[in-house]
Amino acid sequence: MIDVDAVDFFMNGRVLHSPYEYLAAMRARCPVRREPHHGVFMVTGYDEAVQVYNDTERFSACISVTGPFPGFPVPLDGDDVSATIAAYRARLPMSDQLPTLDPPVHTDHRALLARMITPKRLKENEEFMWRLADRQYDEALADGRVEFNGAYAGPFAMLVIADLLGVPESNHEEFHEAFYGGQAGTIGSTNGESLPHTPLGYLYEKFTAYVEDRRREPRGDVLTGLASATFPDGSTPDLMDVVRVASNLFAAGQETTVRLLSSAVMILAENPELQAVLRANHELIPSLVEETLRWESPVRGDFRLAKVPVTVGGVDIPAGSTLMLLNTAANRDPRKFPAPDTFDILRPNARSHIAFGRGAHACPGAPLARAEAVVSLTRLFERTSNFWIDEDKHGPAGARRYRYLPTFMLRGLTRLHLEYSA
Ligand code: HEM
Repeated sequence: MIDVDAVDFFMNGRVLHSPYEYLAAMRARCPVRREPHHGVFMVTGYDEAVQVYNDTERFSACISVTGPFPGFPVPLDGDDVSATIAAYRARLPMSDQLPTLDPPVHTDHRALLARMITPKRLKENEEFMWRLADRQYDEALADGRVEFNGAYAGPFAMLVIADLLGVPESNHEEFHEAFYGGQAGTIGSTNGESLPHTPLGYLYEKFTAYVEDRRREPRGDVLTGLASATFPDGSTPDLMDVVRVASNLFAAGQETTVRLLSSAVMILAENPELQAVLRANHELIPSLVEETLRWESPVRGDFRLAKVPVTVGGVDIPAGSTLMLLNTAANRDPRKFPAPDTFDILRPNARSHIAFGRGAHACPGAPLARAEAVVSLTRLFERTSNFWIDEDKHGPAGARRYRYLPTFMLRGLTRLHLEYSA
């Protein structure tokens, strides 16, 4: 069995590529266990992760997306570090982004988001997805071979969010160019300092202009709704609050969704029998999506900081400790999901996975991501009669070469080369 303490989960390339043996070994020792390299409490148990996700009293999300790096700016001493967190949180990376906020600020910003993404908006957005999938597959499916992530999933996920936020379709080409025309990196990147040369910088510029314009001259469109959304107490948010929430949707909703789509398509390309079953039974597509989320959770995990001493899974955790809630591990906890390493679309409780987190920060984009997957797979089945892995690019069955995103935050393929017949 793997020597878990010898492995630095955050830096080890082999574990990055293939994390499940390490995570199972870690859980077998204890579902909550401190790894020795960075002192992070690794929460690999399902119930334990859910407990922490649901506890905003005793855990702060201020390090949600960065974890142990670069580390808290001052020592976190004492039995209650809440005041230290409050005093220094602005110095942490991404401190203005929704996932890192704590109540009561988080509660207000989350309510603002809920006013922007109304059920009506989600429904209109889903209608747009079907048209967009057609358009995107028209471009992507040309000569029997396709790199699915770059040609389809990336542009699709980005334009879905653009539409959700009301970016006029006449501006979609410009967004596509800004994200995929070579001048921008990945939106998930955290180097927001070098604005405006990052996607986040581009988004800040665009949404500042949109919101300023709609506040000056309301037009009755979606962007006007965004610009005039208020906090629960009725107060109008600062321009930058709106811009940040809107931009955060792109940051949170793009790379994640691309990984979900490519994992699902890869699983189908690798399993011709399963593909045939799904082609003949489109009503099973949502089950495939849930099992994919459980089996290859696109967000490996989220971090929390213990404000006070706390016990999780019988383990005492001192105030000031960093915890990683490993969705990828909790979703394969055999106490919750029997035979967890088997991919089974008929698994009765697949939907209880925590790929979208839990509690106050649980993913508000979950319905969107699910719909994107269903639309994309349905149309892919309609546009092809079969698709399989391109062996020239990924090697033969049994000796595939797949590359995964080089980050401990996300799990998914960098590229997915397919061949298909129409
Ligand atoms: C398969 C796709 C997706 C996965 C697996 C995923 C996963 C997650 C997870 C695990 C969290 C919780 C973070 C935490 O507790 O620290 C989260 C939060 C969030 N997600 Fe998603 N997400 C996906 C798609 C999306 C989409 C499409 C959007 C937007 C349109 C989105 C927007 C957000 C936002 C804004 C947050 C922060 C919420 C908060 O802090 O209150 N996500 N997501």
